[in-house]
Amino acid sequence: MDKLRVGVVGCGGIFTIAHRPAYLKMDDVEIVALCDINREHAERFRPDFPNAAIYTDYRDMFANAPIDSVDICTPNYLHAPIAIAAMEAGKHVFCEKPDATRPEDVLAMKATAEKTGKTLMVMRNNRYVPTSVFAHDYIRSGNAGEIYAAHCGWQRRRGIPGKGGWFTDKEKSGGGPLIDLGVHMIDLALWMMGNPTPVAVSGSTYSKFAGSDLSDSENSRFGEAKADGVYNVEDLAMGFVRMDNGATLTIECSWASNIQKERRFVELYGTKAGLKWDTEELTLFEERDGVLMDSVPNIPGREGVYGHGQNLRHFADVVLYGARPDFVPSQGVNIVKLISALYQSAATGREVLL
Ligand SMILES: NC(=O)c1ccc[n+]([C@@H]2O[C@H](COP(=O)([O-])OP(=O)(O)OC[C@H]3O[C@@H](n4cnc5c(N)ncnc54)[C@H](O)[C@@H]3O)[C@@H](O)[C@H]2O)c1
Repeated sequence: MDKLRVGVVGCGGIFTIAHRPAYLKMDDVEIVALCDINREHAERFRPDFPNAAIYTDYRDMFANAPIDSVDICTPNYLHAPIAIAAMEAGKHVFCEKPDATRPEDVLAMKATAEKTGKTLMVMRNNRYVPTSVFAHDYIRSGNAGEIYAAHCGWQRRRGIPGKGGWFTDKEKSGGGPLIDLGVHMIDLALWMMGNPTPVAVSGSTYSKFAGSDLSDSENSRFGEAKADGVYNVEDLAMGFVRMDNGATLTIECSWASNIQKERRFVELYGTKAGLKWDTEELTLFEERDGVLMDSVPNIPGREGVYGHGQNLRHFADVVLYGARPDFVPSQGVNIVKLISALYQSAATGREVLL
């Protein structure tokens, strides 16, 4: 295979702003098919990908388009059925986050990848941000010592995506900011901690802004809002997770909260050093010769890299050239189980053992 022939399913917000520009820069990847239940959404990309066939049913695309892999950018509840159908049709899969909305679905995705031998990777764009790469290397080289506790989250002051549309409908999204935003920062924390397995989860969720007329931010541009739609998800989630190696992770995610400002962060507590990754800026906390030192490493190219393009490039390198995958499906299983357990704990008021 000298070119990867890709079929895209779901031509909405994230395809437009992140996947499309990434593909336009790749010489060894060709978009040969575009699928969206709303034909116009796919048709918009004809100027970019003039040779792409347009489909409105992904099954039809898998059966008839000459594709090697599928890029899934649909609402969350469709990730698992589309990924499974694609792998069963002999295609490799790259899927947007979250991996799936329920543990049984992510387990079925992993089982299908094992059965078919196809590559299954899920978007982990924040791992490819230069400060994340630096922090991961710094920890893996032993500079931070043992990482025994971490705190992570994505807090928005304002920014409920597509209010009333699929994002705020639990059946379709799987939940609110915990599954939408938390999946990014929880993954970053677990990846930097060396991917320990979560074993116990407790948490609380709050839904306070369903009926409000809160002003919104540019973050609400994702999805399509519906004036009389459904809003049955949380807008704040708080959690506490114990890992199999004794480490703990605390989590805080919001779409709307009366806080100072938006913040995406992972703070890691190591025996030799601590790290704070805050909205792509990294600070290290160490002690040298009895002096407490806070340092900001000067990392080339750290501005404006959100990692989506690098993640898609990596997927192509895995499929085309046999690169060692940075992501394996068991990591997705851990994260979906953690998120689902946090929702269960919030509903029952009890810690959930995994
Ligand atoms: N990695 C990131 O930073 C990031 C950011 C935003 C969204 N996302 C993820 O990307 C996915 C899509 O989000 P979005 O913001 O682009 O949503 P969106 O609503 O803007 O786009 C979804 C598209 O899927 C289409 N669609 C729906 N059902 C379909 C079906 N059965 N077959 C084919 N197409 C179908 C819709 O018509 C729409 O065009 C979600 O899973 C979301 O979590 C990731």
